[in-house]
Amino acid sequence: MEVAAAMGRGLKVYPRIPVLQGRVLANCFLEPSTRTASSFHSAMLKLGGDVIHLGPDNSSVKKGETLEDTIRMMQCYSDVIVLRSPVQGAADVAASVSPGFPIINAGDGGGEHPTQALLDLFTIHQNFGGSLRESLTITLLGDLKYGRTVHSLAQLMAHFPNFKLNLVSPPNLRMPDEYLRLLDAAKCRYDVLDKLEPVLAQTDVLYQTRVQKERFTDEQEYLRSKGLFIVSKKTLEQMKSTSIVMHPLPRVDELTADCDDNPRAKYFEQPKNGVLLRMALLAGVLGGDVGVKQ
Ligand code: NCD
Repeated sequence: MEVAAAMGRGLKVYPRIPVLQGRVLANCFLEPSTRTASSFHSAMLKLGGDVIHLGPDNSSVKKGETLEDTIRMMQCYSDVIVLRSPVQGAADVAASVSPGFPIINAGDGGGEHPTQALLDLFTIHQNFGGSLRESLTITLLGDLKYGRTVHSLAQLMAHFPNFKLNLVSPPNLRMPDEYLRLLDAAKCRYDVLDKLEPVLAQTDVLYQTRVQKERFTDEQEYLRSKGLFIVSKKTLEQMKSTSIVMHPLPRVDELTADCDDNPRAKYFEQPKNGVLLRMALLAGVLGGDVGVKQ
């Protein structure tokens, strides 16, 4: 986060910080993406590197090529692979066929999305005085079962016992037990709830998520689950003036447009922080000397 913040300062002065000149990033997105793919792409360009892109429709996965072979190929053309896949565990499979080669998980099905969680934490860091030491109440809302961003975020939160977590979702979309066990092991304070109202006024960070339509096997269950938690201007009015509202985006109907000009809304700031955080990550992974004093 210190490096990401320094990248931000650098980009105010220079258009690029060319510490990865000559390096190639393989952006392998086997599932749709607007933000994550473009953000990694932009981060690599701003570091002076180059990018090759594989999308869900132009890769030989469509012809039946395995993920393992796809990764073996992309390694031949690049120095780092960023992988998004609809298959949970895909990043582990990719890492298993590429020992020593950097693979960054950009979302594996309903599993994890660690770089989104890092940029979310960086956004919290930037909005609360450049520190993560405050005792903040963080409320994760929506689809906590299939939402991979909140799985990774809960794991990161486990490093901050000064945070209090509220995990608010419909009963069928609760945070999976494996993540609750991690929070227990780290002695984190959290509550599992199916109502937002009781915790809204104490919340410092409200993190809304989309109900992940593409992960449901039963369409009726999806239809019953969506629309139960809608964050609107009215919701924000019940929150502290210092609180912030985040969302990894894309949004469907769970976060209304009348929130957008509210000073609490930070979901258009998150993508900007994402580029900086991913610049820091790529520079770190590829050993670029970014010359930042910690
Ligand atoms: C998220 C994802 O892909 O998991 N989007 C993102 O990367 N910013 C959230 C979502 O799709 O709902």
